[in-house]
Amino acid sequence: MTRAVLGIIGGSGIYDLPGLEDVREETIKSPWGEPSAALTRGVIGGLPIVFLPRHGKGHVLSPSDINYRANIDVLKRAGVTDLVSLSACGSFREELPPGTFVLVDQFVDRTYRRESSFFGRGCVAHVSMAHPVSPRLHVHLAAAAKAEGIAAVQGGTYVCMEGPQFSSLAESLTYKAQGYSVIGMTNMPEAKLAREAEICYASVAMVTDFDCWHPDHDAVTVQDIIRVLNSNASKAKGLVARLARDFPREHEPCPVGSDKALDTALITAPEA
Ligand code: ADE
Repeated sequence: MTRAVLGIIGGSGIYDLPGLEDVREETIKSPWGEPSAALTRGVIGGLPIVFLPRHGKGHVLSPSDINYRANIDVLKRAGVTDLVSLSACGSFREELPPGTFVLVDQFVDRTYRRESSFFGRGCVAHVSMAHPVSPRLHVHLAAAAKAEGIAAVQGGTYVCMEGPQFSSLAESLTYKAQGYSVIGMTNMPEAKLAREAEICYASVAMVTDFDCWHPDHDAVTVQDIIRVLNSNASKAKGLVARLARDFPREHEPCPVGSDKALDTALITAPEA
């Protein structure tokens, strides 16, 4: 049996996890460089939790400057089996207003200046990203949201832009026309790297704004985002506490194979 360890990556507005007991900081070295911060370890209801603030303490890392490889690597070394990403996002749909939590199930990667794989020269692997979100984790998140009375929409496509600037109106209208649900700057390559590390991954995208396509909302500003961010963050902390309390203590095998993704991915000959 594999003991479940729940990892939480906190996005903008989420720099700690209240409710965590037996808290201690742990610095784990990674050959991939510096992670965003030291890990915070603790337990909720007996379940081991590992927390990492994605943008670092004091929000000092922009989305392009986050070392996603080091972050996923240290979480893996800490024993994380299941990883929940919490992040702010803009919405392309009237029916997903600010304050809505979207349990996304697909991603479109439009980033272009980030290291996005642990593999490459010397050891080549191609993991499947057909189903980037672990269905079991998604179901547990949906149940936790329901129990907490949080409006969470199940399913949606998150387009990840490079940033740090927000989209132009033409880009925003294009993404909307493509049928994407939300936009953010951080879930890629995080989701890809989690898959390569054989960690189950799910993302809670918390809507802070309508981006700039909406006729009643012209340009996005950080001030507008922060107004919604804080209430989203406190709901997210409740969501995590509930998720942890109700989470299975034994890691559940992933129906889409997230936890054995490399079984079918390595192409370099073993003797090479
Ligand atoms: N994060 C929050 N709102 C966003 C937006 N409109 N575009 C990209 N990232 C965001």
